Amino acid sequence: MITPQTIEQIKSRIDIIDVIGEYVKLKKRGANYLGNCPFHNEKTPSFTVSPAKEIYKCFGCGKSGNTITFLMEHDKLSYVEALKWLANRYGIEIEETEVSPEQKQAALTSESLYVINNFAQKFFEDKLFNSEEGKHVGLSYLKERGFREHIINKFQIGYNPSARDELSKALAQNQFNKELLTKTGLVVVRNENELVDNYRNRIIFPIHNNSGKIIGFGARVIGKADKAPKYINTPENELYNKSKVLYGSYFARMAIDKANECLLVEGYTDVISLHQAGIENVVASGGTSLTTEQLRIIKKYTNNLTIIYDGDSAGVKAALRGLDMAIEEGLNVKLVLIPDNEDPDSYVNKVGTTAFNEFIAANKKDFIIFQLEIMMKDAGGDINKKSEVANAIAATLSKISEPKDLIKRREYTKRCAEILNIAEVDLTNLINYHIKDRIIKENKLPKVNESEFFKDSLNTKNENIFETSINVLLDSNFQEREIVRLLIEYGDLNWDQEKKIHEIIFETLNQFHLSNEDLKKIVEQYEEELNNNLIVTKNFFIYIDDKSLQNLVIGLLYFPFELSFNWSKKIEGLKVQLVKDEKEAVSEGIKWYQAKKLRAMLLEVELDIQKHSHDEKLYLKNIEVHMKLKEVEKDVLKNPKTVIFY
Ligand code: CTP
Ligand code: MN
Repeated sequence: MITPQTIEQIKSRIDIIDVIGEYVKLKKRGANYLGNCPFHNEKTPSFTVSPAKEIYKCFGCGKSGNTITFLMEHDKLSYVEALKWLANRYGIEIEETEVSPEQKQAALTSESLYVINNFAQKFFEDKLFNSEEGKHVGLSYLKERGFREHIINKFQIGYNPSARDELSKALAQNQFNKELLTKTGLVVVRNENELVDNYRNRIIFPIHNNSGKIIGFGARVIGKADKAPKYINTPENELYNKSKVLYGSYFARMAIDKANECLLVEGYTDVISLHQAGIENVVASGGTSLTTEQLRIIKKYTNNLTIIYDGDSAGVKAALRGLDMAIEEGLNVKLVLIPDNEDPDSYVNKVGTTAFNEFIAANKKDFIIFQLEIMMKDAGGDINKKSEVANAIAATLSKISEPKDLIKRREYTKRCAEILNIAEVDLTNLINYHIKDRIIKENKLPKVNESEFFKDSLNTKNENIFETSINVLLDSNFQEREIVRLLIEYGDLNWDQEKKIHEIIFETLNQFHLSNEDLKKIVEQYEEELNNNLIVTKNFFIYIDDKSLQNLVIGLLYFPFELSFNWSKKIEGLKVQLVKDEKEAVSEGIKWYQAKKLRAMLLEVELDIQKHSHDEKLYLKNIEVHMKLKEVEKDVLKNPKTVIFY
């Protein structure tokens, strides 16, 4: 692990203009720099970089982040790789933290396993191309199947000879530790002490992690597998964790990014043959159902997943399991079944690239629709079963819950209702039932509690008045954003001799609660960091791991309240002054935040007055509350300096 000190040192040396300038031609525009966005195609520049804040944001495609995330996204580096890149650029020596003996041992083991795997891969490759047996048995088999030399080289394919212990002997000569050797699965112990090769007479497919290191192997028999298993794979060890790898991801990641689509096939040879055909955005699952970790690898690059399996493989059912998870994650899942006992490998070799691509394009089936059709077929004419199917599909559709996907859900509802042969409105009701059910279970029901502050001051027992509707409160988003921005930008500065600015802001937030959940999260993080470290700098959020929080903060920092100056031009007679310093900015921000919250409450009371005009007691109480609120509002709005959005 890189020490926090080194990370801080790197961050303090970062020059965002210098780094991004390597990739994008930047021109100075006021305080910022502007250029063509490297993440999407554009002719007029909308990619801005702020050297002062060390952040970038593209107003075309919305991508935003800091120097480190830029390197991660643009060059597909991991966090640690990005840090190392920067350290190298700025000549910073990297210090690694002391690790526990167990961690150290695990790291040492991993390191050694890499070394052994590397050695073995070279051995296999050498045997394939340079030994008589390798050429006659291994290479000729690969050639017969249509694999050409450049693709064999690219995937570092090899051959394990059929003799009992050729690899074992070579390994022994290099004095590798025996225990480690058995961990790799390359060899097995026979007769207590003797090491023999595990993959004798097999083609060897190395399995790479995302940075191209070899973490394991798949070993295939030559020809038909009658007696022995067709493939032997590396056992789980410090490097190889089957549920966390997708075969081919290292070779596919750029292409997936570019195509904005990931093709998923079952096997090693499918990946390799498609690559050979020029289709490179493809990875393999190894025929098991997808895990969350594997979905995460895909989601790093795209939201579009297309599964290409052979029609009657057991793998289809396996793959379909667990795909609700993918839907929940917002992935668009499509399915293509290859006909006639072919798999992608044999099919692309049979029909060629163009016809293969055309077939995929023409036969992409939506996963949800496919699932429904299969279930309907199973249900036959049974009414009970059919209603179970409707329920199941409603549960699936209820998981499409991102606001931006609502149209997608409506479209699905329509199509699924047709297939189920029921009224669309019935299916919608069923879906809504599932949604409600889940919201209640997750206890996400938005409850707005503005009453604490006023309950005391008015000494009223009527709680209804203050159960402010969220609709009204949502409109305070602008003021909420501003107050959270002030917290991030100035929270750590002094308000007076006793208090910091963050304390003043927290007092306000305790009186008038935020209603925006994301902003609440930022404030919670702020408090947590405050408890841990006593100070919270702006950098804490700019470099925070949580990408969505980071985006939100960058958005806030790019949209300061000063924008409201433009409004003075639009609203006549409105005086707008520049705030003098951060303290004034904060007091203005708090003022408008309070005013906005008060306005929402006033509105609510006004509605209540109208609604309950017949109830005299309530009416009088409401009027009283209304007057008090007005007073507070007037007080708050003394000498306003900036514009308020009502
Ligand atoms: N698999 C495995 N162990 C087996 C059989 C299969 O791990 N005994 C995995 C492998 O990752 C294999 C995938 O499941 O690539 C799909 O299996 P299959 O379709 O049988 O093999 P293919 O990949 O088509 O291999 P080939 O084209 O060489 O027959
Ligand atoms: Mn095959």
